[in-house]
Amino acid sequence: MKSYVILISVVAALGGLLFGFDTAVISGTLNFIQPYFGLSEAGLGWTVSSLLFGCIVGVLFAGKAGDRYGRKKVLMLAALLFFVSAVGSASAHLLIFFVIARILGGLAVGVASILSPMYIAELAPAKYRGTLVSLNQLAIVIGILVAFFSNYLLVDTGENNWRWMLLVMAAPAVLLFFSLFLVPESPRWLVARGKTREALHVLTKTSGKEFAHTELKEIGQTLQHQEESTFRDLMAPKIRPLLFIGIILAVFQQITGINTIMYYAPKIFANVGQSNDSALLQTILIGGTNLFFTLVAMVFIDRFGRKLLITIGSTGMMLMLAGLSVLFFTNQTSGVLVLVFILGYIAFFAASLGPALWVVAAELFPNRLRSKGMSVAIISLWIACIIVTIVFPIMLEKLSGGITFLIFALICLANLLYVIRYVSETKGKTLEELENEFAK
Ligand code: BGC
Repeated sequence: MKSYVILISVVAALGGLLFGFDTAVISGTLNFIQPYFGLSEAGLGWTVSSLLFGCIVGVLFAGKAGDRYGRKKVLMLAALLFFVSAVGSASAHLLIFFVIARILGGLAVGVASILSPMYIAELAPAKYRGTLVSLNQLAIVIGILVAFFSNYLLVDTGENNWRWMLLVMAAPAVLLFFSLFLVPESPRWLVARGKTREALHVLTKTSGKEFAHTELKEIGQTLQHQEESTFRDLMAPKIRPLLFIGIILAVFQQITGINTIMYYAPKIFANVGQSNDSALLQTILIGGTNLFFTLVAMVFIDRFGRKLLITIGSTGMMLMLAGLSVLFFTNQTSGVLVLVFILGYIAFFAASLGPALWVVAAELFPNRLRSKGMSVAIISLWIACIIVTIVFPIMLEKLSGGITFLIFALICLANLLYVIRYVSETKGKTLEELENEFAK
């Protein structure tokens, strides 16, 4: 694999790192911003979720702007927004400014959540596309881990500790902005804009001289005589099934419970009776497991394919959740087995649905509609994320842990059956081959 392609993917994946960091950093600040801004529990909930609402707008915006101005320029804008959000939230003295800064961060997360994986998919040679796009998920996981670590290290820095925690994000934002100057625009976008020579230049550098001409021709064919796309084009008979697959997989990635487990883990760890350092221990165990198994996915996703990985992963997630449910039903939640099931669940997610969803969403749609199709799929992901975050604590309280985790286990089963029945394998083929197979 060419080091140039790796460099491009790493730069784009910085968007994923900021996505992970920004969504996770807030958890360490809660105990401090609540008294500072005088927030009730509900007020705190709204303040925290303001980011998620920003995400939805960001994804919608990126779906259109990514086509009009190019993937790279819009990612640069996201880097600026991350920076403004970091500085703004860290220096806010009034709640309204804090919330506005967090919403701006949400916009950036939304943009990065589709443009980073999409940009990598459009530049990566087919053979390594799965691994390279998964780099984005690896970066998300690293971002989460870095946020937890830096929060842990900064917690004792006095009354402004939460400001420092939030400010840390400015550094990767600046890095993303400037490193984007080093990478080219997506060749698929260049062809769509009639910049064929530039596209050929990029393809020669990413795929080699010989392959570049063939690829350029194929990209050109998929984009011939087409006017600028609209969101309505996603409802065309050939595209609609792809849209459904994108939406359903994205929703499954959330409603199979990953973020509930990630958020709930601290309580479970508390039950198991960890000492003061439990925060650090959790970070290492959960983050480390997540990281390691994302690497496992990166090794296998182009060999075994996306479908097999999701099939194995969903089965494992289902079994782990079922185990957790049994422990809750039988009141054995204070033993070490709880940890085993939680970490097992995270491992299966990280090795399958975690990265694979982003990979499939980035390669499912034809060139002309990729940006818009992916944006609709990922908006569904964020909406599902918001709903699960709101509903989960209520489920736990009203239904008990046993039933709640049983429901999540059944959702994993549904995901498994859906993937086996409806999702086709995408590994190893160029985006144009996939387009000819799925959308022609
Ligand atoms: C998901 C996030 C999740 C993260 C955890 C991502 O693929 O979309 O919701 O928090 O993985 O690793």
